[in-house]
Amino acid sequence: MTIVCEDLKIIKGIANSNIALLKYWGKSDVMKNIPDMPSISINLANLNSYVELKTDITKQLILNDKPIDNHTYARWNRVYKAISSKELNQIDLGINANNNFPTSAGLASSASGMAAMTVALNQYYGLNLTMSEMSRVASKGSASAARSIHGGFVETVISKGQSSDMHAEQLVDENYWKLSILICVTDSSKKKVSSSEGMQLSKKTSELYDSWVRLSKNIISDGRQALLAKDFEKLSFYTELSCMCMHAVMMTTRPELYYWNPTTLRIITLAKELRKKGIPVTFTIDAGPQVKLITEPDFTKSIEDALNEIDGIEKVIESSIGEGAYCESF
Ligand code: DP6
Repeated sequence: MTIVCEDLKIIKGIANSNIALLKYWGKSDVMKNIPDMPSISINLANLNSYVELKTDITKQLILNDKPIDNHTYARWNRVYKAISSKELNQIDLGINANNNFPTSAGLASSASGMAAMTVALNQYYGLNLTMSEMSRVASKGSASAARSIHGGFVETVISKGQSSDMHAEQLVDENYWKLSILICVTDSSKKKVSSSEGMQLSKKTSELYDSWVRLSKNIISDGRQALLAKDFEKLSFYTELSCMCMHAVMMTTRPELYYWNPTTLRIITLAKELRKKGIPVTFTIDAGPQVKLITEPDFTKSIEDALNEIDGIEKVIESSIGEGAYCESF
């Protein structure tokens, strides 16, 4: 393999987290990391991961200033292997990864992290992969990472059969529809059950799982239409339907997966009250208790004021829709 950047000391991959408006939960192939259904996400400009490849240090693998644990090693190894065909313990580089937001707390830090690592390795090995190809590589680390390669509004593409695979494509870019996202952090500690583990449990034990797989396909096609038509009311309907159906599957998993806390529910209630008052706002929640409110930029301030009245919110991170992953070297 040609290494074109040997003279550089640091290559830095930068990628943003994303949230799915129309979600996936469950995999058809755990080894290949392929979801059972597609998903549509938005890229979050202000939630960033940075992955530095240091060419003057070998085998130092650091995440948020600590050596990585086995779970993270397995993720990083899958991405490294997809790019270099080698195991991570053979790496001739140091990797130093950081997130500017809570890690493993339901804010898709693995999505941005794996996307940032992919663009950095692509540059280091001089592979010139297309965005779609990088998306396929990133998906090996985390399925949602396939989406973080691209900016704007993004949909996953899943191919089934013998050569089953996944990657994501951009539907429309970040300028298509200016939306504002308020990420309400209600508990930044690490979640007890990871998404990967939770999904496998749900597929095995939730009575609702098969219906969710069927229903989510319709939610995606109707939700995509609403998004492309910039119909906020319809998009809210499908966003919340997707979120609630996914959480119903989680809650009917055995042992049950309750990712919410009382503040999560308070924020959902607030979003519905605000909507009754004519404010365009919708909510979504991933595998954690944080609530993401999506609105149009003119309404951000009044929603922030209303959130100030709610107990239990650690902080609110405001974001616009961001651009795709990229690289810097120095
Ligand atoms: C609830 O794609 O992060 O956020 O591939 O096992 O790393 P792994 O899981 P991941 O799960 C995301 C689940 C979700 C829904 C979504 O983003 O569509």
